[in-house]
Amino acid sequence: MTDAFANRLRKNLAHRRKWARRRGISCFRIYDRDVPQFPFAIDWYEAVSPRAETHLHVQEIDTGWKMTDAEYTAWLVGVCDAICEVCAIPAEQLHLKRRERQRGTSQYEKLDDAAAESFVVLEGGPRFEVNFDTYLDIGLFLDHRPMRALVAEIVADRAKRGTGTRFLNLFAYTGSFTVHAALAGAARSTTVDLSNTYQAWTARNFALNGIDARRHMLVRADVLAWLVQAVADRERYDVIVIDPPSFSNSKKMADVLDVQRDHADMVSHCHQLLADGGELFFSTNLRSFEIDAALAQRLALREITKQTVPEDFQRPGRRGPHRAWHAVK
Ligand SMILES: C[S@@+](CC[C@H](N)C(=O)[O-])C[C@H]1O[C@@H](n2cnc3c(N)ncnc32)[C@H](O)[C@@H]1O
Repeated sequence: MTDAFANRLRKNLAHRRKWARRRGISCFRIYDRDVPQFPFAIDWYEAVSPRAETHLHVQEIDTGWKMTDAEYTAWLVGVCDAICEVCAIPAEQLHLKRRERQRGTSQYEKLDDAAAESFVVLEGGPRFEVNFDTYLDIGLFLDHRPMRALVAEIVADRAKRGTGTRFLNLFAYTGSFTVHAALAGAARSTTVDLSNTYQAWTARNFALNGIDARRHMLVRADVLAWLVQAVADRERYDVIVIDPPSFSNSKKMADVLDVQRDHADMVSHCHQLLADGGELFFSTNLRSFEIDAALAQRLALREITKQTVPEDFQRPGRRGPHRAWHAVK
């Protein structure tokens, strides 16, 4: 059975590497549950620093299958061995994330601090710090690659026309949208996230790309509260990206965030912050999400998911990893 998986992975890899090379892409998805009995998402990252080497981020997707512990461990080690062989990658460069941690696959699971090394990867010009072992997510969401390129294109276009861009990034995580916008010529930006850890990561990404922290501000705040204040202060932005988590509750927040319940207010507030001619991008990865119809009509929100989900994340008959909307004021 592992043969069917290995053959499929080999085929995917050959096709995807050619595809990526033609487009100058060095981090991409090579496998996504293509063989249902092997429920994994596998991403390929070509690091440039501290050493030029390829890493694989392998996420097991929980299907609720029942196996004994011994069967499960043997199966998982077999799968990881097959991945390493097909991709010609040593075991230390395969990083496995799975739902339940059990003993026996430790050569692939490196969750101790000593192994949690950071690497730098490229996405076109911009450089990003990634860390495969410390958290569930590694610091760069690959499914947003085309949306980052779109934002950079808009900002660069405005710069060419002599129009400076004030950029706003809400729920910024490690600031990847801001890095693209700043390098494309944004005059200034504000990057908001609740987490100190991720704001520090964004600061490192800024430093990696030579971004001037005096013009590109980091704000640690609850976006819900921050938006209310920004509207009251009549702040103005030319391009806004808002990409909330599906749910969030933290001691640092007054309330819980529920994207289905709260998106109409948040997007509405963002729209109030837009300057005339400004552009807004809203994205969500909640699978059951339904856009508020009155909001969509009032702001002329246009769904752009077909444009924003990259080819390496598309699977026939399957929902993509996110949905996205765009509005111009
Ligand atoms: C889905 S990630 C955003 C991904 C990011 N836009 C990107 O493309 O890289 C969600 C982020 O929202 C942040 N977050 C969660 N609740 C928040 C809140 N109420 N206010 C501000 N940030 C919040 C988390 O710390 C996390 O960094």
